[in-house]
Amino acid sequence: MAHAPKIDEIKIDGTKIAETASAGGVPEVPRHVAIIMDGNGRWAAARGLPRVEGHRRGVEALRKTVRAAGDMGIACLTLFSFSSENWQRPPSEVRDLMGLLRRFIRNDLAELHSSNVRVRVIGERADLDPSIRRLLEEAEDLTVNNDGLILVVAFNYGARDEIARAVRRIAEDVAGGRLRPEAVTAELIGSRLDAPDLSDPDLIIRTSGEQRLSNFLLWQAAYSELVFTPVYWPDFDGAALEAAIEEYRRRERRFGGLAAKTAAKSAVAQSAAKTGS
Ligand code: FPP
Repeated sequence: MAHAPKIDEIKIDGTKIAETASAGGVPEVPRHVAIIMDGNGRWAAARGLPRVEGHRRGVEALRKTVRAAGDMGIACLTLFSFSSENWQRPPSEVRDLMGLLRRFIRNDLAELHSSNVRVRVIGERADLDPSIRRLLEEAEDLTVNNDGLILVVAFNYGARDEIARAVRRIAEDVAGGRLRPEAVTAELIGSRLDAPDLSDPDLIIRTSGEQRLSNFLLWQAAYSELVFTPVYWPDFDGAALEAAIEEYRRRERRFGGLAAKTAAKSAVAQSAAKTGS
């Protein structure tokens, strides 16, 4: 796997992203791609297989996608692996998903580490089985010094829960007199989220044809481009990732400003008005 750029090279604040976008549209490769991996159950049902088989094939798709992301030079890949709402599924399916995570970390951690991948985890850990918590910590600790692709595993993750936890900590600081209410800004809230040092996703992909965010990265998605593909997650691979990025490249990101073409036209018109030409 090719080494992705270091995070220091890609950490860009909102202003700089806006400048880059208005200077020439979107960069060739998005820095941060996030994926809602959906359609495992339908993939299995279409083949008369149990749902767990869809999840198993989903892990294979995940492996292929991580490799492809590294090869393409994507700096950060966030995968929605288990949502805070997934506990509502039948206990046997929850057990299957936990088992798959365990197996994924046990089988793949060494390869991820040797590929210079840094694993990070977002989501609420307190409700997780201690053995799962330890595995997630082991993955983070082993790979902490890697400076290739950052693989963010969103596990027991829900965006409203992430925001509520951040706001609760801020409220505690205000109540304890450590923070003035006027200091509570969008930046401050962003800085208390689960991975505040990572740039917001440039591109969010959802598979299986569904077109919604389902409580995924709601804060960070403010200016993300959204690409929906009908492909069920177990069929997703490097080519499907390329296709989603192709669509992303055709978009023009404005961040609340003007489109690059409109801005250029308006600059020409202004300069013509000044010179009277
Ligand atoms: C959605 O399919 C997918 C998930 C519930 C989570 C994604 C899980 C994996 C890719 C496998 C597990 C991997 C790890 C590392 C835990 P769905 O079941 O909602 O599909 P459906 O909408 O067709 O029923």
